Amino acid sequence: MILTDDEKRMRDGAEGAAVAAAMDLLIRYGDALACDRLCDVRNVAGTMTQPSPVKERLVAHGGWDKAFAVINLDCDDDIEVPAMRVPTCQLQHGFGADAKGIVPYPQRKIELQQQAEAFYGRRGVTILATCTPYQVGNIPVRGEHCAWMESSAVIYANSVLGARTNCEGTASAGAASLTGKIPCWGNHREENRHGTHLIDVRTPVDGFLDWGMLGYFAGGVAGEEHPVIAGDLARPDLAGLKHFGAAAATSGGVELYHIPGVTPEAPTLEAAFGGARTPEPAVYGPAERQAVYDTLNSQGSRPDVDFVLLGCPHASVDQVRRAAAALDGRRLSPGTELWLMLPRALRDVADRSGYTAIIERAGGRLLGDSCPAMSRAAPEGTRVFATDSAKQAHYLPAILGIEAWFGTLEDCVDAAVTGRWHGSLR
Ligand code: F3S
Repeated sequence: MILTDDEKRMRDGAEGAAVAAAMDLLIRYGDALACDRLCDVRNVAGTMTQPSPVKERLVAHGGWDKAFAVINLDCDDDIEVPAMRVPTCQLQHGFGADAKGIVPYPQRKIELQQQAEAFYGRRGVTILATCTPYQVGNIPVRGEHCAWMESSAVIYANSVLGARTNCEGTASAGAASLTGKIPCWGNHREENRHGTHLIDVRTPVDGFLDWGMLGYFAGGVAGEEHPVIAGDLARPDLAGLKHFGAAAATSGGVELYHIPGVTPEAPTLEAAFGGARTPEPAVYGPAERQAVYDTLNSQGSRPDVDFVLLGCPHASVDQVRRAAAALDGRRLSPGTELWLMLPRALRDVADRSGYTAIIERAGGRLLGDSCPAMSRAAPEGTRVFATDSAKQAHYLPAILGIEAWFGTLEDCVDAAVTGRWHGSLR
């Protein structure tokens, strides 16, 4: 790998042992990929504060410096963590104090996370605590190189914002935060950002449920490559693109897609493919739409619903408003809980707008920081849950061993109010 003078200085310890360890990790990472250079990043979204049994043991024996060294730098040395070199934010992590008594989640983990927030906050990590940093002020500009984790955020940054990031891991993001560097491969390079698969949409796609299902289909077709979505599409909004990307990164490993006329690197279909020949399309019509819906509902058999989960990826303010409107003047069925996950920074907006009061009057909860899949916690005794998120419907049954129903926000609210699933594809 060719290093600049500044990178050599960091590698050789001019900025301390932690930065040297970070450079060592990045060089090993780049060499493994036969990558010849690093690129400058000034926007890192990683995870440092998430509690885990391993982290708890490391903190008990060597403090937070030790935990960062081992988990975020892949280094066994005793080092002191300096201030982050570039703007860095914490993504979603475990549940916080607002979940106490509501979520069956160990108090010890909440305390550990609070300690971590204080430690990393002092070193310049902004505790956004959400899988949607782009909803709460972290919006990289087009062409900006980033080092982000969290598949649903990575695909949004690449596709909707036109920023450039691979899906980083805990250690590479940690190393990027101390150096402002990341190996320049994959999505960082112009020549790797063109479309590879064409999806021809021949059925109406409107609303975030439909965008989620289309994303689930596109991920199945494109795998880890780049689908281009064409057809007679209504213009998606933030929630639609958020659900499309999260689903495409769930059924496949998509990190970048294009929608001609919508996403910034695809003004036209031809541009989406970089001038290369347009491939034969995979058709998404009424039959394919029904098949995706059936797949996402294949893990539900009992109609009784104990738990409704909204806000995966974390809800936008508009989604909170819509949930409040659907719940206004209604009460949850006894024995059914409803959680709506959102960035904690948006909770204040929901409070001031009166949405929180409406949802809580109905018996529902707004929760920040985490989600059941991330923290492996749902209401006590949950056997069947319902959600409007293709990603959560895909993962949560495997993580918690529960049944899932997938439908619209309105279907989910109906299940919360009646305690039974009545959803169907319309
Ligand atoms: Fe976010 Fe959890 Fe979904 S971290 S994307 S709400 S699985």
